[in-house]
Amino acid sequence: MTTADPRLDGRAVKRIAFDAERIAARVHELGEEVTARYPEGDLLVLGLLKGSFIFLGDLVRQIRRPLQVDFLVAASYGEATESSGHVRLVYDPETTLEGKHILLVEDIVDSGRTLNRLIGLLMERRPRSLDVCALLHKHVAEHLQYEVGFVGFDAPNEFLVGYGLDHAENFRHLPYIASLQ
Ligand code: IMP
Ligand code: MG
Repeated sequence: MTTADPRLDGRAVKRIAFDAERIAARVHELGEEVTARYPEGDLLVLGLLKGSFIFLGDLVRQIRRPLQVDFLVAASYGEATESSGHVRLVYDPETTLEGKHILLVEDIVDSGRTLNRLIGLLMERRPRSLDVCALLHKHVAEHLQYEVGFVGFDAPNEFLVGYGLDHAENFRHLPYIASLQ
């Protein structure tokens, strides 16, 4: 089945994996899970840009407790040094992480490399707790050293776009999540 959508610039969607209604329902549930998980203490919701921008915007509006929002922009030093575990923060939150509950919001967990690096780096800042909320989890990450505390959906092992996810910076604005033709 192909779906014509003027937002796709002539590309065709192979399959809509998660439509807008299903996403909204699950994000609402995630908001309730997060609310229940943190009965007290400072909560800093940290969005990993750019992929998390829509998810984070929807998620925080479903969390019914005080919180603050900040973002991280991460860049790796390149393929050659990947195994060394280096990650450079291009944008680093200005607020301190120490003593706060940190909820790191990711669009999708694939190989798990991004999380392995980022979590190690954020733990050095001595947060009170550090958990990850990923909208999608492909469950293919063999080397992921951490448990992802909150997962929106188990994702098919296909390349997905929409709701923040891009292909060469395109398609982030689709209100649904789809695989491309
Ligand atoms: P990982 O480090 O391999 O787990 O990859 C995580 C990052 O790769 C995500 O934050 C996305 O930016 C990107 N990524 C992985 N899979 C997909 C996909 O299916 N569609 C779009 N981006 C993806
Ligand atoms: Mg990307």
